[in-house]
Amino acid sequence: MPEQEMSDRVDIERVREAVDLVALISEYVPLQPKGREWIGLCPFHDDHKPSLNVVTHKENSFYKCFSCDASGDCFTFVQKYLNKDFPEALSFLAERAGIELSNTRSEDEGKSSRRKIRSAMEWAVQLYCDSLADTKEGKTAIATLHSRGFTDESIQKFSIGVAPDSWSFLTDRVLDNDDRIETCLEAGLLKRKESSDRVYDVFRNRLMFPICDETGSPIAFGGRRMNEEDEPKYINSPETALFHKSKTLYGYCQARKTIQDSRRAIVVEGYTDVIACHQAGITNVVATLGTALTNDHAAKLSRICDEAILVFDGDAAGQRAADRAVEVFFAKAIDVRICVLPEGKDPADLASDATTLESYFNDSIDAIAFKLDRLELSLESVDTISGRARAIESFLDELLRLGIGNLEGVRKPLVYERIATLTKTSMDEVESYITARRMKISQAIPQRQTTDPVPEAYTNIPRARLLAEHEFLAVLLFDPTESSAALREAKGTINPKDFMEPCAAQLAERILPRLEAGTPYSMQELLSELDEECRVLASSLYFNGQRISETSGSVMLALQMTMEAFVNALEDKAIADEVLQLKTVEDPAERAQAAQQALETIRRQKTSRNVS
Ligand code: GTP
Ligand code: MN
Repeated sequence: MPEQEMSDRVDIERVREAVDLVALISEYVPLQPKGREWIGLCPFHDDHKPSLNVVTHKENSFYKCFSCDASGDCFTFVQKYLNKDFPEALSFLAERAGIELSNTRSEDEGKSSRRKIRSAMEWAVQLYCDSLADTKEGKTAIATLHSRGFTDESIQKFSIGVAPDSWSFLTDRVLDNDDRIETCLEAGLLKRKESSDRVYDVFRNRLMFPICDETGSPIAFGGRRMNEEDEPKYINSPETALFHKSKTLYGYCQARKTIQDSRRAIVVEGYTDVIACHQAGITNVVATLGTALTNDHAAKLSRICDEAILVFDGDAAGQRAADRAVEVFFAKAIDVRICVLPEGKDPADLASDATTLESYFNDSIDAIAFKLDRLELSLESVDTISGRARAIESFLDELLRLGIGNLEGVRKPLVYERIATLTKTSMDEVESYITARRMKISQAIPQRQTTDPVPEAYTNIPRARLLAEHEFLAVLLFDPTESSAALREAKGTINPKDFMEPCAAQLAERILPRLEAGTPYSMQELLSELDEECRVLASSLYFNGQRISETSGSVMLALQMTMEAFVNALEDKAIADEVLQLKTVEDPAERAQAAQQALETIRRQKTSRNVS
């Protein structure tokens, strides 16, 4: 074995032995002991129950995810999670363990492009920081930073620097190094002028905020103008092999520990807001890079905390952001709250009084409650019961569009309950509405295409009831085998007489006894027994059943959901509750009048729904 390779091997083994894999991984992903092993949420896929296992009692420690199959040792973890190549991972872990590598290869030999970008970034951070002290722009920059209340300590903590007012500050320093020029172009520090092939500096006369990865190594810059006439206000580095805007949070490295300890992350909009908050002693603060919070951001945060507070200045900004926040909440295992600061004030403006600023953060509102508040406001102007019902329905439709259907586990009943309380309905109702609506949406297109007039017999049946009957039958027709098993489990709770719509009742009478008895029948056979109208319905339902099963993920799930919706519809809770609400009207004469009105509304509603 060549000498070089030999000493590499020795280095690798020394580092591997020195690294405690559980300690390493728990810096990024909380782990819990389970028997002899440790488990946690897998950071390599969208994990909802802990599937990552860390095993340390075997000869070599390793991690393995039983869900996505990610696995490896300390080096693979650092490579994958921290986005480094092998030599970078080795030197990162060696440094962390205080091990001097016997064999550091000559600086430039065989470096990957990512490593070159990384080192160019480090080089630039150093140059921009040094410029603070030794250029005239540096003097202006420090004066500006001080006048905004930033201390030297903060300037150092965030490695703030300055790009002098020159087209060739960096360029002059790489002229003799073609390789570095290429890297700087790739890193977005330099640009090439098309006409003359000359390169020039991208950042000129700007305050430079380095943007770092989880390990604190710089991967991009945010450059703020120093001259208010310059446009744009900020120039940010382009995406590179190292930098992905939608995954990066400014200040993450400085904030990670407090976020992990407090189980809460505060997400502000600006770099300066992050720095001001940290300086004020609120250190669980990060910022997105001029974008809304993405699912990737949320996934990253959900591994180390339970709650993200999104901070906006002014009500309008908060309202605009609320939908996105709710969407993220539905998609990721993290609570999302919204904090609206007084109009026109950002956290940096308020950070001189940390107590007040913290009290704003603490007064943040759950993203869903935030939307529910808006609903409540809009309901104030609605004075009929049916108008109210419609407003609530369209609110639920909006939540569906934002992905409420994605909720899983304990989050689902919690959210449904909260909606039920705020809309003064029952949780079951919220759930069955959402279930029915999901089905409806999944069939919306084909349904709109059918222009058949609604048969006379349908007009007295509430729309929800009609839909529930048809959808349940649809799944039964689509998969008789599964249905047979499910119905036998339901032990005769479903009666053909419970179907109000005549064709549905006819169909139910034919198939329910056979399904419950487990006697197979063919679709052909069934169709031949039905009259014309029912035949048409049966074949169209069959295809609906297929669609419903596909959108639900499985026939079994589709059966459960449609059966539940059907049973709920049987009880016709919606009408019962509308009448119950009248109890809150105290004056008997008024109540009688309201009851009369409610009955009329319900009647009208039925008719109009069935027609639409
Ligand atoms: P100050 O005005 O100095 O307090 O900076 P700020 O960071 O608070 O700026 P602002 O509130 O205007 O913007 C918030 C964030 O949006 C910034 O930190 C940037 O990430 C982003 N941003 C603002 N303006 C621009 C711009 O012109 N271009 C780009 N790419 N991003 C911007
Ligand atoms: Mn600002």
